[in-house]
This record gives sequence, structure tokens and C-alpha cells, in this order.
Amino acid sequence: MRTTLVFCCICGAAATACGFGTSYPQAALAWDAAYGRDLVQVKHEVARTRANATPAADVDLEVVHDAISATRALYGSPSRGKPLQWESLRQFPPIALQQPAPSCQRIGRQYPQLTSRNLSVLDSYADYACGDGSNYFLTDPAVGLNAELAELHGGCVNMMRWPRSVFAANSTHFTYAFRTSEHVAAAENSEHALAPILVDHDVLVISSSHLPAGMEYQHTLLDFLPAAWTVAKILKGSSKRLVTHIPIQRAMLQYLGISEANMLELPFPKHGQAFLLCTAPHKILQIWRTGRGDGGELPTKHYRRGGFADFWHRLLNYQVGHELSDAIAKNAGWMEDALEGNQQITFLQRCVVRRRLANEQEALALTSRALIASNRSEGLMSLCAGRLTWLEQVSQVRKSALIMGAHGGAIANILFARPGTGVIEIVGSPKAAKIIDAKGEWKWPPYKSHWYGGAGASLSFFRVVLYEPNAAAKLEVRLDDLEEALQQWFVYKNAQDEAENLS
Ligand SMILES: *[C@@H]1O[C@H](CO)[C@@H](O)[C@H](O)[C@H]1NC(C)=O
Ligand SMILES: *[C@@H]1O[C@H](CO)[C@@H](O)[C@H](O)[C@H]1NC(C)=O
Ligand SMILES: *[C@@H]1O[C@H](CO)[C@@H](O)[C@H](O)[C@H]1NC(C)=O
Repeated sequence: MRTTLVFCCICGAAATACGFGTSYPQAALAWDAAYGRDLVQVKHEVARTRANATPAADVDLEVVHDAISATRALYGSPSRGKPLQWESLRQFPPIALQQPAPSCQRIGRQYPQLTSRNLSVLDSYADYACGDGSNYFLTDPAVGLNAELAELHGGCVNMMRWPRSVFAANSTHFTYAFRTSEHVAAAENSEHALAPILVDHDVLVISSSHLPAGMEYQHTLLDFLPAAWTVAKILKGSSKRLVTHIPIQRAMLQYLGISEANMLELPFPKHGQAFLLCTAPHKILQIWRTGRGDGGELPTKHYRRGGFADFWHRLLNYQVGHELSDAIAKNAGWMEDALEGNQQITFLQRCVVRRRLANEQEALALTSRALIASNRSEGLMSLCAGRLTWLEQVSQVRKSALIMGAHGGAIANILFARPGTGVIEIVGSPKAAKIIDAKGEWKWPPYKSHWYGGAGASLSFFRVVLYEPNAAAKLEVRLDDLEEALQQWFVYKNAQDEAENLS
């Protein structure tokens, strides 16, 4: 086994890293011992690929070698480096909270409002949110946040599909971007051994990015696109390239008005989850993260299940979602003047066998009946989001006055909702979560929703309704409660319409 230094010499607009960069054996040897030999190989590869490449700048590879070695030393003991300064790019004031349950102040804050006609269901929920679940999220929508940037000259940063920590450093300076309390240990244990990719560009890295295999679409929406939107303006006309990993990110960024010249696609290795991205000396490595609005430190903490420690960035999502959605509509050339009078209720069906809801069709029929009885003018649209292109999904979401569906990837599309759009998300009861866990799909906490520890607090109508196992252990929506949530939405929407007519 050896370490391969991959020199990204043809990272032009749409180019991936150089072709030989698709397998990165983990370093078993000490980095320095392996390095010299690989340098030679890098030189050969640069020469070989130059024919079809934009000429690589003359990088002195010996200098790169020294810089990366010194950076790696800092990975081992960050205390020897100087911390980087973070600068605010955009401020996000605290979100005004609606807290409907006096018995548990976490509802409307870290947890969404649950709708049920059954008091014992509501009581168990409050018991959870303020009991066992009270430590689950350390995020708080009542804290003002910053989207912020820091930059290194000639530095490295670990890139992982599911980072537990993100540590960036050059030989003198370092910073943590995406963090848990294990950050130091994680940096020591894994980043040390990551195979490096060297780029000869100024790059910008979104440290909140998560791309677990098979869930790339929803995690691009949850963990990448909103952050990318906050940097769209500063990329314009600059030499910086925003790092992406998969083609759909590139496609979406273009609709946000970001030019291909400002992107750099670095795919994850086929059988790997991670690599170390390094910029050549004098090239800038800029890092994006979420910080505390008043400049203080955000709390970090490790929780026993899942990876929910640092999801502060998701609290920005629905605050910028409608902006980036508008940008997409504009760039897609959609004529939406008549949209106001032509809205729909969008019911996102599961359409896959995983976590199937046995009575989903009854839930849809119930929604139709309730809508007709309400005398409202919206149409009802039922969709399998996964069978539409992403642009079609955005378009359907923009037409929606209300979006409903079971927790899952499709609901991530609420990012694209226009202001005032309601959300009814069908989430798993504690018993349902146990069944899902037993099937080994994922460790899910009970009541898992796209509220995500406070993100949903910036949406004006967000309710969750339970699904739970029936006597035959099949998962079923609590239909009565769904009807109640619809009634609450009718009241909300009628009031919204009335306010609009008055103004
Ligand atoms: C409320 O829901 C619980 C849990 O599903 C159930 O056991 C109970 O019978 C329900 N109570 C009423 C009054 O429907
Ligand atoms: C590391 O990056 C910092 C911040 O950009 C810079 O001030 C410093 O000079 C860099 N160190 C080296 C050795 O290039
Ligand atoms: C809907 O309209 C019918 C006929 O005008 C009326 O009788 C009914 O009360 C209305 N329902 C609601 C919920 O407004």
C-alpha cells in the first residue's frame, strides 16, 4: 500500500480530477517515506495529461511536499498552530418562535408542533421532547447565526462523505469548521492517513457538506446548496472555485447563477469515503461554516446516536431557500405571474418499498375529501418525487401552498418552497422508530423530521403527524390526526388570504 498524491492538473470547468485520481489507497506507510516516489509519478502524470489539459501552472513540487508535510504535522497537534480568524459573510438574526406547548418549551424550538386529537399522544411527545430527547439537538433557532469564511494560504482540508469533524490547516495556521466534541480525536485518527489531492486553484469548500451514498440529492439540499447560495455573489468574477463532488451539484449551482468557471468537481474515490484536499502554495483555501452571530463559540457536543452534533448550518436553510428557489425559477425562465391563483396541495408519496405506509392511499383520499369540503380553490397533486427531474421537483414545490408527505428524501424539497407555504410532515412514533431500527436501515430517533433541531422554525406553518405500527406491525398514518392538521392548515390559509385581501 502506498500514498498517491493526485495532482489535479486539468480541473477545468467541467473536468473531474485527473483520470488517475479515482483510487486512493490508504497510507499504511509513513507519509514522508512514500512521498518522494509519488512525486515522480505525479510529474509523469502531469506531463502525460498536459496534451488535453489547460496548462498546469509551474508548481514547485518540492515546496508542495514541504508544505503538506508541515500541514500534516499540524493535524497531529493543532495546539502548535495559530487559530484562523473567521469573517462574517451574512448574518441571520434569531428566529421568532411560536411555542404552542407551555408544558414543553422545546416544542416550537428544537422540535416541531405535533398535531393529534389524542391527548396521550401529545403528552408522550412533550415527555420525549423535554425528556429523553432534550439533549438530542444542541441547535437553537433562537440563537443568531453567521455564514462565515476563513482562508488559508496553501493549506489542506479533509473532505468526507459524512464528516464528524472538518479540520483545515497550513503549516502555521489551523481551524475547525464542522465540529463535534470528538474533533481532535477524529482529526488525529483519520485525516492523518488520508490520501491528498493537490489543486493549483483558489478554492472554496463548504464544510457542512454531507453526501452519504444513495442519499446525495436530499443531502445536497440540506447541507450544501443553501451554503453555496450565500457565496454565489463573492464567486462572481473571482478566481475562486467552489468544490463540488457530484454532477447534480454543478447543475444546481448553474441555476443559482454560478458559472462553471467558478466550480471544481472532485468526486469521492470509488471505494473511499474521504480524501485530503490541498491547495498549492500561494493558492487560497477558503472554508465556509456556520458561526455564532455574536462571534462567540457555538456549543459542540457528541450525542450517542446518529451524527446530529453540528447541524447549525441547517438552521439557515429555510431562511435562504426561497431566495435560491427564485433564482432557479428566473434562470429556468419560468413564467409564474399567475401562480398565486393557481396553487396546489402537493402530496409526496413514498413510492418505494422502504418504510412503506400501509394506508398512504387512504391518507391521500382523506386529503382530497377534506380539501373539497373546505371550499378552497387549491388542486391536489400527488407525486413520486424521485421520478421527476430536480427541476420538475422545484417547479411543483413552487406551485404548492401546502406540501405533505412522510419523512424522507422527497420532503427535503421544501427547501424550494415560496414564503408562506405550509408543511405537514408524517413522522415516526417511538414504536415506529424501533421497527425501522430493527430492520437495520438507519438509526432513527423517534419523531425525526425536517424540522431538524430548529430549521423549521423559520417556516410559518409546520406540523408533524405520526405514523405508527398497527396490530400487524405495518406502519400506518394516524388518519384522524392528519385530518386535524389539514383543518389547522385551512384555518391558517384562510387567515393568510384574508390578510392579503385587506392589504
Ligand atoms: C390514544 O392513542 C394511544 C396510542 O395510539 C391509544 O393507545 C389510545 O387508545 C388512544 N386514546 C384514545 C382516547 O383514542
Ligand atoms: C497560512 O495561512 C495563513 C492565513 O491565510 C497565512 O497568514 C499564513 O501565511 C499561511 N502560512 C504559510 C506558511 O503559508
Ligand atoms: C362550503 O360552501 C358550502 C356552500 O356554499 C357551504 O354550505 C359550506 O358551509 C362551506 N364550507 C366551508 C367549510 O366553508
